[in-house]
Amino acid sequence: MSDLTIAMPKGRIFDEALHLLRNANLPIPESFAADSRKLTISLPDAGLSFFLAKPMDVPTYVEYGVADLGVVGKDVLLEESRDVYEILDLKISPCRIAVAGMPDWKPVLYPRVATKYPKIAERYFKEQGQQVEVIYLNGSIELAPIIGLADRIVDIVSTGQTLKENGLVELEQITTVTSRLIANRASYRLKNNLIQSFCDRLTEAVQGSVYA
Ligand code: PRP
Repeated sequence: MSDLTIAMPKGRIFDEALHLLRNANLPIPESFAADSRKLTISLPDAGLSFFLAKPMDVPTYVEYGVADLGVVGKDVLLEESRDVYEILDLKISPCRIAVAGMPDWKPVLYPRVATKYPKIAERYFKEQGQQVEVIYLNGSIELAPIIGLADRIVDIVSTGQTLKENGLVELEQITTVTSRLIANRASYRLKNNLIQSFCDRLTEAVQGSVYA
């Protein structure tokens, strides 16, 4: 059994996270890649094992302790509110959560907002004192205003290309997002030395990437 088990997110963040781990001189094999079907990898010499999970599930694995650590976007942490420690800003995959809509969007009394972040959207509009109906979708959120399901969307904007190609505009920014390293609370106490030295290696790699 490995000393530390780390949950990694499939999808957008994965390649950048892997790059960071390699910059931290961890011997991640080429077979652990975004397009591979392999979901687990063990590095016995480094005392580490990794598994690949859906990004939204990473905090769940960490909260329940099947992973000591996890790499996850701040968007997921804000949406999932899991009982985990956020221990390092990895400063990768920067993006923002924004409200977007058609350029000719007009305020309506009780707008519909489509999103895969229902809690973030509910919270934001409540803070703004606006009553909205939040409609949960699993993806391709930009479709909703185009086909008339929703007046606005709350979604991740990275390059802005998806909004642009679909004729939508960013209306309000809710928050900025980067990926974070999270830890299980018990692991953080019981494996503190191991976690600290893993964290130190990553901190150096993060600083290297930021100042490179
Ligand atoms: C995300 C997000 C936007 C897009 C933004 O989607 O939901 O659709 O990326 O990126 P951009 O600003 O660089 O165009 P994702 O690729 O995660 O797929 P999804 O449609 O399944 O949510």
